[in-house]
Amino acid sequence: MDSLKVLLVLAVTAVTVKVSVQGPAQRRLYKDLMTGYNPLERPVVNDSRSLTVHLGLSLMQIMDVDEKNQVLTTNIWLQLYWDDSYLQWNTSDYTGVTNVRFPDHLIWKPDILLYNSADERFDATFHTNILVNSSGSCSYLPPGIFKSTCYIDVRWFPFDVQKCELKFGSWTYGGWSLDLKMLEADITGYIANGEWDLVEVPGRKNERFYDCCKEPYPDVTFTVVMRRRTLYYGLNLLIPCVLISTLALLVFLLPADSGEKISLGITVLLSLTVFMLLVAEIMPATSDSVPLIAQYFATTMVIVGLSVIATVLVLQYHHHDPDGSKMPKWTRVILLNWCAWFLRMKRPGEDRVRSACHNKAPRNSLTSMDLNASASAPQSTNGNMLCVGLRGLESIHYSTVATSSESGVLCGRLVGRVGEDEILLPAGQGPSAGSLEPEMAKILEEVRYIAKRFRDQDEDVSVCNEWKFAASVIDRLCLMAFSVFTILCTIGILMSAPNFVEAISKDFFT
Ligand SMILES: *[C@@H]1O[C@H](CO)[C@@H](O)[C@H](O)[C@H]1NC(C)=O
Ligand SMILES: *[C@@H]1O[C@H](CO)[C@@H](O)[C@H](O)[C@H]1NC(C)=O
Ligand SMILES: *[C@@H]1O[C@H](CO)[C@@H](O)[C@H](O)[C@H]1NC(C)=O
Repeated sequence: MDSLKVLLVLAVTAVTVKVSVQGPAQRRLYKDLMTGYNPLERPVVNDSRSLTVHLGLSLMQIMDVDEKNQVLTTNIWLQLYWDDSYLQWNTSDYTGVTNVRFPDHLIWKPDILLYNSADERFDATFHTNILVNSSGSCSYLPPGIFKSTCYIDVRWFPFDVQKCELKFGSWTYGGWSLDLKMLEADITGYIANGEWDLVEVPGRKNERFYDCCKEPYPDVTFTVVMRRRTLYYGLNLLIPCVLISTLALLVFLLPADSGEKISLGITVLLSLTVFMLLVAEIMPATSDSVPLIAQYFATTMVIVGLSVIATVLVLQYHHHDPDGSKMPKWTRVILLNWCAWFLRMKRPGEDRVRSACHNKAPRNSLTSMDLNASASAPQSTNGNMLCVGLRGLESIHYSTVATSSESGVLCGRLVGRVGEDEILLPAGQGPSAGSLEPEMAKILEEVRYIAKRFRDQDEDVSVCNEWKFAASVIDRLCLMAFSVFTILCTIGILMSAPNFVEAISKDFFT
C-alpha cells in the first residue's frame, strides 16, 4: 500500500517535472535577455553601422474616401522586421523556447510613423507584442485604421482614378542609423469596396536630403491606386441628366397652343438644378478644377436655359398680334424661304391652294350647283327675297342666272372683283325695277361692307398664319440645332474622360 503511494507520488512528480520544463527555461530566458537591456539603445553590435528595418504593409480594406475633406481611411496591417543583436539565445540552453514576445515598450522598436496622417492621435496603430526568435529577428505587425491626407482630384468625376500616397518613415532616425527596406504591399486579404476598385499598391523607397546634414532621410511610400466604380453615379446622376436634357428637346415639339411650352422648360431647368445640388454636396468646394459631371450639368443647364429663351421667341411669333406690324422683309426671306426650304417645311395652305388652281373647272360647276340649289331653296319660302351669289376673286364670269319665274323673287348675281361690283338685274317684271334702285344700292353697300370685312379677316388670318408658320419654322430649327448640340455635348464631355471606355465596359457590362 505504501509502495503504491510512493509510486503515485513519484509519477505525479515526474509529470510535474515534465510539464514545467518550459516554464523555468522561459523565465530564465526573459531574465537573461532583460538583464542589462535598455530599450533606448539601438540594438546594433557596431554603433557606426545602421540598423536595417524592413517595412511592408497588407492592405485590408479601403474604408472611406472623403472627397470633401480629402482624407483616405484605410485598414492596414503594418509589417516591420528588424534584427536585435541583444535578443539572441542558444536554443539548446533554453529547451523548447523558440520565440518570445515582448510588449512594445520593453524593447527597442523603430519609431516608424505615417507622415501624411490625418488622425486625431496621429499614430493610429494598435501597439501589439513584438515577436522575437532565437536569432534575434523581431517582427512587429501593428494593425491600424489609418487616416491619411490625399489630394483627391475630382476633375474626371465620376470617371476618376485616385492615387493616394501613404508615406512611412522613422520620425527621428536618419538614414545612417536606421535604414529602411521596402517589402511589397500585400493585398491578398483585401476586402472589396463597393465604390472603389483597387488597381494596385505600388511602393518605392525615397531618400531625402535636408540642408542641415549630409545624412539621407529615407522613407517608404506606398501609393494606393483605385478606380471609382461608375455604376452608382451613372444610374443616379448621369442617366437622369441625359434623360432630362432629352426632355428639354421636347419643348420644341410641344404645340404652342398647348400653353405648356414654358412650364416644361422651367420644370426641366429646376430638376437639373436639383441634380446639380446633389453633385455639389459630394464635391470639395474647390475651384482648382471643375468636375466633369459639373461641366456636363452646367452645359446642359445652359442648353435648357437657351431653349426656354428660344421658346419665348417662338411663342411671341406664334401669338403675334394680327393688327400689329407685318413681318419684316428679311425675317420673311430668312425664315419663310430659306429656313423653310432647308427644313423641308411647307406652309399649311400651300398644298390646298395649288390643288384648287388645278381643279378650277369642277369647282366652278360645283359652285353653280350649290348656287342652283340655294336658288331653288327660297322658292318654297315667301316672296321678296334677294338671292345673291357673291363670287370671289377667282371667278370673273358668271354662267347661269337662276331666275325664278315666280313673281317678286329676284335672283341676281353679284360678280365682282375687288372694287368692281357688277349686278345683273333681269329685265322682267317691269314696274318694280325702278323702285328697287335705292334698295339695291343699300344692299350693295351692305354687301360691300360684308365683303370688306371678310377680306380684312382673311388678310388678318393670313398674316397670323404667316407668323405662326414662322414660329413653327423657328421651333423646328431649334429642335434640330439643340438636338445636334446636346448630342455633341454629351458625347464630347463624357468621352473626354481618360478612362471612360474602361469604366463603362467594366461597370456597366459585367
Ligand atoms: C564599426 O563599423 C565601421 C564601419 O562599418 C568600421 O570602420 C569599424 O571598424 C567597426 N568597428 C568595430 C569595432 O567593428
Ligand atoms: C549552443 O549550446 C550548445 C551546448 O551548450 C553548444 O554545443 C552549441 O555550439 C551552441 N550553439 C551556438 C550557436 O552557440
Ligand atoms: C527567425 O526569424 C527570421 C525571420 O523570420 C528567420 O529568417 C530565421 O530563420 C528565424 N530564426 C530561427 C532560429 O528560427
